[in-house]
Amino acid sequence: MMKRWIERIGLWLWEMKPQARLPYSESEELIRIVNLCKVYDTGTMKVVGLRNINLTIRRGEFVAIMGQSGSGKSTFMNILGCLDRPVIGHYYLDGIDISEMDEDQLSFIRNKKIGFVFQSFNLISRTTARENVELPMTYAHVPKKEREERAVKLLERVGLGARTEHMPNEMSGGQRQRVAIARALANDPPLILADEPTGNLDTASSIEIMELFSELHREGATVVVVTHEEDIAAFTQRIIRFRDGQIISDEKNETQESKAEEKGRTS
Ligand SMILES: Nc1ncnc2c1ncn2[C@@H]1O[C@H](COP(=O)(O)OP(=O)(O)OP(=O)(O)O)[C@@H](O)[C@H]1O
Ligand SMILES: [Mg+2]
Repeated sequence: MMKRWIERIGLWLWEMKPQARLPYSESEELIRIVNLCKVYDTGTMKVVGLRNINLTIRRGEFVAIMGQSGSGKSTFMNILGCLDRPVIGHYYLDGIDISEMDEDQLSFIRNKKIGFVFQSFNLISRTTARENVELPMTYAHVPKKEREERAVKLLERVGLGARTEHMPNEMSGGQRQRVAIARALANDPPLILADEPTGNLDTASSIEIMELFSELHREGATVVVVTHEEDIAAFTQRIIRFRDGQIISDEKNETQESKAEEKGRTS
């Protein structure tokens, strides 16, 4: 208990350290990546995952990451999600330089600042939807009653109010992914990351999941989604394309704008 508090206070002070933070005026940026490289060392050979990435993502953006298999999308997402660290370069998340953090600090950041959604849902199979959603709050030491109530609210939010006590294997793929999204929202993180969240879903469920991300984006969340499908990327505002570990294009998505305008006119 004592150790936990010391860690927390340490991180809090560290966050205050002026040289670790970007100037206040730049705080509308949620993500800044500077000259980032990632090399995998397999022992027998070195594989370049990412080369010299420079990028900023502002708060409230809805971004798609696209590119062929092996182009570096997951490598990039794992760094954004603090599951992995760059070999060279800097990653500032919410103004904090992640590249300099130790493991304990990274897991604190992951829990507080990032909600991660995976292609294979990654739910714990022997626990209910509610308990799955409660888990990140348990790590964040949220009291039991409060986390139960919040988990139920989040499940209602993703349309699963009637399923809170169901096990993952009693649900469809789309429903499991909704549980995973509710879990990602548990600690109200500023950043939501999803690596091929619709990769295991049929078209109808994929659209439902993307509509849910669109709603979260409209409510102010920053969402980054990896996808192979243009139809899925069409939901976002900005499309970043990778090839061979590099960004080859980074464009505003005009289709989404016209879609949103259309929606505005008809509603
Ligand atoms: N743990 C690892 N060890 C060694 N090389 C790796 C590792 N993970 C990824 N790579 C390599 O890094 C490069 C980028 O892989 P990455 O998984 O980021 O691609 P991706 O764009 O997500 O592909 P996909 O669309 O198939 O998911 C590939 O050449 C891959 O072989
Ligand atoms: Mg991948």
